[in-house]
Amino acid sequence: MTFQNNAFVLAADSDEGICKRIADCLSSQHVKTAVALNTQQLVEMLSTLDPHVAIIDYQLLKADNFSLLEIIKKEKLKTQIVVTADTADVKIAVDAIKRGAVDFLAKPFDFTEFESKIIDMLKTSVLGPVPEVFSDNEFSGLYNILKKISTTDNVDSLSTVVFDAMISISGADAGIFHVYNKEKHALVTTREYGNPDKKKIQYIFSDGVHDLIEDFSATSKHSALLFYNNDGNACAYCDTEDVNNVFHEISVPINIGGDRIGVISLFRNREKPGFSGSDLKMIEVVASQAGASAYHAGLYVSINRKIEELMLISNFSEQLMGMVDKYDIIRTLYSATVKYLPIDVIGFLVVQKRAHEFLYWVRNRKDNSRIESICSEVVDAYNKSYSMSVNVKRVLLRTVSLPEIPLTECDTCSNPEFKHILPVAWEDFRFGAFYFESARKLENKAENTALLSNLVNQARIALTNSRLYSDIKENYIRTIKALAIAVDAKDTYTHGHSENVMNIAEEIAREMNLDEKNIGIIRDAGLLHDIGKIGIPGQILNKPGPLTYEEFNGIMKTHSSLGANIVRDVPFLQGLYKLILHHHEHFDGSGYPDGIKGEQIPLGARILHVADAFEAMTSNRPYRTSLGEVEALRRLVSAKSTQFDPAVIDAFLRFAYRKYKIKL
Ligand SMILES: [Fe+2]
Ligand SMILES: [Fe+2]
Repeated sequence: MTFQNNAFVLAADSDEGICKRIADCLSSQHVKTAVALNTQQLVEMLSTLDPHVAIIDYQLLKADNFSLLEIIKKEKLKTQIVVTADTADVKIAVDAIKRGAVDFLAKPFDFTEFESKIIDMLKTSVLGPVPEVFSDNEFSGLYNILKKISTTDNVDSLSTVVFDAMISISGADAGIFHVYNKEKHALVTTREYGNPDKKKIQYIFSDGVHDLIEDFSATSKHSALLFYNNDGNACAYCDTEDVNNVFHEISVPINIGGDRIGVISLFRNREKPGFSGSDLKMIEVVASQAGASAYHAGLYVSINRKIEELMLISNFSEQLMGMVDKYDIIRTLYSATVKYLPIDVIGFLVVQKRAHEFLYWVRNRKDNSRIESICSEVVDAYNKSYSMSVNVKRVLLRTVSLPEIPLTECDTCSNPEFKHILPVAWEDFRFGAFYFESARKLENKAENTALLSNLVNQARIALTNSRLYSDIKENYIRTIKALAIAVDAKDTYTHGHSENVMNIAEEIAREMNLDEKNIGIIRDAGLLHDIGKIGIPGQILNKPGPLTYEEFNGIMKTHSSLGANIVRDVPFLQGLYKLILHHHEHFDGSGYPDGIKGEQIPLGARILHVADAFEAMTSNRPYRTSLGEVEALRRLVSAKSTQFDPAVIDAFLRFAYRKYKIKL
């Protein structure tokens, strides 16, 4: 294909020799060339000749104060301007391109490359754009690569697939994939192949040059430039000018969802042919498909993450449902948090009427002074949030263990990468404040902080329910206590009996090493064990002297089942039902109401039975005085294994020895 002298170039340079070389070079391609040796000639010839391409020395443009470029831009002349200069100064290149030039060439030229560049430009403006057609092989290779890219849904594997694809389709000898780190304003190498010339890349964005890797250009005379058009669209730039360079270079930006995330640069050895238009086109197609796939992969990852978060929150709320113990709630929150997030310290300042607590969990053992300083930071934050004045000296430090996550050895971190304090309250309830710390940097910090707030919010709802529940329970217990007092008052012989039984039963339970939860149940049952007497007629309860067979068996004995029925339908008193029902059963089965024996009788009921008997024998009744502790104990021991559980009697004897120094 030749231009048959219908292509027209203007060469403008004060150095006539250069103009002549340009004209000679282009005439071999049947391109007509006019020459301008100064600014005046340039202005005249540009407007009269209307060339396809004008190759203009930077000094001539500068002398004219760049008005020529403004005119071309304003009048939309077809002339494409290539600016030349004696130096490969990037600032001149950027300046010229910003003012409307399409390319920049540093003198002296390599005329072979100069010729091919100008001919390419003329092809577009004289003959119109030449459609890029891929060969069959290129097309099928490209098709396979695009298919692979579009089915990769993981950003990490995607970058490998794309990078490998670019190396393979371009036949590059080396390559490097830089990803832009916004925070550091620097490019980070993520993939590398061969021995790329790392020191030769600069990037030109529409707003100027960015040396994103500092030493890239500092030691280099020449740079491969990556251009962005004025409209913001990126295009690849192929550098083949510098003869001292051992590589042909090509760089292509990778954009994801409108963000430039990085650049892939490919290098081909100088002795091989430079990159062709078809190479460029294929690489641009791969880059654009990669961008689209990465965008979708990103969406896929973030949707998956959202689903996981929702699952976590939903499981967490489900676990909390019905949980009324605040320590259980706190422990559940800790477990959920450390399972999902790389959190290394969690703390909760529990603000209470009496002593406050700071419940903390640490992934690695930390010295106490570090925990103390965290606690004091949390107390400050709490006081500031609610204008309170919790005194840090009144806060007890208590560790929380999470069996599923064992502690690792000491790795004290006094400068954590992430810290978050969340005060927790609901209306008038001030629960305290949560603390989260991570020694590591959290990815997606904003999302993770939102997730933590969400979890804490769920915990806050559970803590509120727990507080309301314990308020209701407390009110109910208060009512029941009043009822127990009313019963004792009704039975004038047994004044204070219920409270005494409660205390004795608790001592026995502690002696038998029962857990706090069961001790609590036994205490409550002790207080309420005779609540059924509320339904026994006063004349029987207060009858001076022994009851008749009928009065005792027919009426008095019903008090245990009457009492059990009172608590049966109250949710948080249901645990007392069996203890109240069976507090008169005998170990050998001779008791009432069911005549069950041995371990068929709940342990709490066996304890109550001993406490009840001891209290009755040691208190003064109108018809008899107290038997005294020693005699009472003797009687208990004599009925060991028949009326009473021997293990309970033994425990009681141990307690009695400690308390009354009685040894039988
Ligand atoms: Fe009783
Ligand atoms: Fe009793």
